[in-house]
Amino acid sequence: MTNSSTTSIRKGEEPHSPVSPMTVLVVGATGSIGYLVVEEAIRQACTVRALVRNPGKACELPPEAQVVVGDVTRPETLSDAVNGIDAIVFTLGSDGAGKVGAENVDYGGVRNVLRALGKRTARIALMTAIGVTNRTGTYNRSTEAHDWKRRSERLVRVSGLPYTIVRPGWFDYNRPDQHRLTLLQGDTHQAGDASDGVVARRQIAEVLVHSLISNRATRKTFELIAATGPAPKDFDQLFAPLEADPPGALDGVHDTPNMPVNDEPQRVRDDLNAIGAHRFSAAP
Ligand SMILES: NC(=O)c1ccc[n+]([C@@H]2O[C@H](COP(=O)([O-])OP(=O)(O)OC[C@H]3O[C@@H](n4cnc5c(N)ncnc54)[C@H](OP(=O)(O)O)[C@@H]3O)[C@@H](O)[C@H]2O)c1
Repeated sequence: MTNSSTTSIRKGEEPHSPVSPMTVLVVGATGSIGYLVVEEAIRQACTVRALVRNPGKACELPPEAQVVVGDVTRPETLSDAVNGIDAIVFTLGSDGAGKVGAENVDYGGVRNVLRALGKRTARIALMTAIGVTNRTGTYNRSTEAHDWKRRSERLVRVSGLPYTIVRPGWFDYNRPDQHRLTLLQGDTHQAGDASDGVVARRQIAEVLVHSLISNRATRKTFELIAATGPAPKDFDQLFAPLEADPPGALDGVHDTPNMPVNDEPQRVRDDLNAIGAHRFSAAP
């Protein structure tokens, strides 16, 4: 699965350090983005571990992927998945499962995997969605999916782990000539339709995987859309101009502060406390 242009993603910061390939756990590996993340990580010479809740779907994955059976809503099934990993890419989705699915999968899945990781460290790439800070639109009012995905972002930020949070625009609504990636911050595109921005699924997967090794992507939150033009070649250059989230912040840099932690459900505050105790005291 490698070719001459492939850069092998390795553990450690030094590009030429003699270390083994990074082991990447993909949570949501059988999904429309997760499958492409598995392919891209293999292409980048990572060892890929795919978390699969339905073993029948494992045969759809590339044979190079290590399959681990587990369900993010059942914490007791997650310990094998996180053993010996260097990075996690979350591409979970509970579409169609309403508020319960949003809380238990999109949010609870991230919480349970972080809990399973315990005190071990791992680089995190979390996919949420453009418009995730829009609380008043019809979609969020009926599903609370934005709120729960945003809370999953907060868990990642308080975890103290190195992370990148990617909020993609509308999947595969791009025209064939729209591959110039544009990274935005502040989550101001909130129409709730493709006018917010579009991006190819494969490019979302590329950005998620490349964020794992670029120091320029660390502690950054951004919306990801594509404009007319060619795909980027240098991901460091793409990530570099972005602002990092302020240390200890719950939200992305420039996000609208419309989810005060004191108004959050007690169970969410308890999770924040448990996952990032010392940072929580500095929260707004
Ligand atoms: N569509 C868009 O334009 C757009 C834009 C931005 C963001 N988004 C967000 O992207 C997400 C959808 O991404 P996608 O298309 O990749 O989703 P998808 O194809 O529905 O995949 C979701 C993945 O999550 C897994 N999953 C669900 N519940 C699980 C559980 N309890 N334990 C373990 N794994 C579980 C699924 O496993 P199974 O295969 O077993 O079901 C699947 O692998 C949505 O949440 C949406 O909000 C979408």
